[in-house]
Amino acid sequence: MERLQKILAQAGVASRRKCEELILSGAVEVNGEKVTTLGVKADPATDVITVNGKPVKGEKKLYIMMNKVKGVITSAKDPQGRKIVTDFLPGIKERVYPVGRLDYDTEGLLLLTNDGDFANMLTHPSHHVPKTYLATVKGIPHGSALEQLQKGIQLEDGMTAPAEVEYHDVDTEKNEATISITIYEGRNRQVRRMFDAINHKVIRLKRIKFGDLGLQQLGRGKYRHLTPQEVKDLLASARKTHKVHKK
Ligand code: URA
Repeated sequence: MERLQKILAQAGVASRRKCEELILSGAVEVNGEKVTTLGVKADPATDVITVNGKPVKGEKKLYIMMNKVKGVITSAKDPQGRKIVTDFLPGIKERVYPVGRLDYDTEGLLLLTNDGDFANMLTHPSHHVPKTYLATVKGIPHGSALEQLQKGIQLEDGMTAPAEVEYHDVDTEKNEATISITIYEGRNRQVRRMFDAINHKVIRLKRIKFGDLGLQQLGRGKYRHLTPQEVKDLLASARKTHKVHKK
């Protein structure tokens, strides 16, 4: 919820001051009701706001991809004062929020938007959009252990859905392995818990793909706007996976 004059000004109707005058003059209605006092709040996403009978265009929809660094919280605010992902969006005035979460210590591809329908499409549990991670783990998991992850493994909140799992890199000297894992769910700390279940602690976790969208050359801590085609492809991926898993 925002003050009406702020919404009007952000929508480009006029300056904040001029918008206050418009409200006082009785030119502004919210959901068909005239508002003539200052201080009234509205939600630009759901309320119908008109000036002299003409609807005010909502906020511009933004779709952003960030390469999150570790040590940053995926949240709009942190009471403990830690760094938050929106600290890494210089130049973005609009209020955007993350599409799903990455843990404090997880790096990689994070989407942010101010489009609630888009966020919901991509995160709804019935839309199984694939997400691919590189997990570096302590020790070198046996093929049979990876097979368990692939088939589904029992966690305290139930069996995991089948996943795609393969060796990406094995470092016998350090006794570490990096495994590529694609999951179709988004449970809390899921990848870390899956590897815990086969007794290999994750020491580094990076998301490298969301649907078909990859991080490509995006630098650490950097962001870019998605192209309209990328937005379309992500939505198509959510619709497609929804149907596949409904069968
Ligand atoms: N799985 C995890 O364990 N952590 C993340 O941040 C994302 C997926």
